[in-house]
Amino acid sequence: MKQVAILISGRGSNMEALCQAAQKVDSAYQVCRVLSNRPDAKGLQWASGHGFSTRAVDHRKFAGKAEFEAELDDDLNAAGADYVCLAGFMRLLSANFVQKWRGRLLNIHPSLLPSFPGLAPQQQALDAGVRISGCTVHFVSEETDAGPIIAQTAVPVLPHDSEEALSQRILTAEHRTYAPALGAVCAGRVSWAGGPKAVISDEAGEPLYHYPDL
Ligand code: GRF
Repeated sequence: MKQVAILISGRGSNMEALCQAAQKVDSAYQVCRVLSNRPDAKGLQWASGHGFSTRAVDHRKFAGKAEFEAELDDDLNAAGADYVCLAGFMRLLSANFVQKWRGRLLNIHPSLLPSFPGLAPQQQALDAGVRISGCTVHFVSEETDAGPIIAQTAVPVLPHDSEEALSQRILTAEHRTYAPALGAVCAGRVSWAGGPKAVISDEAGEPLYHYPDL
């Protein structure tokens, strides 16, 4: 059974979905720690209220990024984390941290990467006029919102969509995408051997791509 730590900064709805999926009998992972860089993150309350081990590591209390990340790294190691999932974690991690956790650090992003990395990807999708967007779970590399893709779910961009409406539709897809993707990594079906693409050892099991019901 793999041990997974989750890093959040706010609402934590993806963290909730990961925690809930971990409680299924056939889960390949357990959630060993939930960390937030913001003490007031709503998701921290949910996680501690549901019996998960939590801690706030407030980045503002550290002399710099290196010290903050050293504390995160120590905590993750002490918690026995095999994998770390970023779930709305709003601090950019240094190359040093990313390299330490290479192949064991995952992120979810609300667009079909490599389209629309960075901030406000849903608005970027609306501005570009794409007819389909979605979400991506990927291994984290040194560049922001980049790294080998593990799983993606497509959702339609509807005429007259607002940023809020599209964000909500994508968020619902995110909640269905992250846990199966993490499960596939924890079960050894998907890994990162260092190249530009993830290595998928077999396509059996839960699918790593989803389309909307049309
Ligand atoms: C999600 O859209 C995620 O893809 C992005 O930040 C948002 C976090 O939402 N990285 P939540 O905190 O998981 O509810």
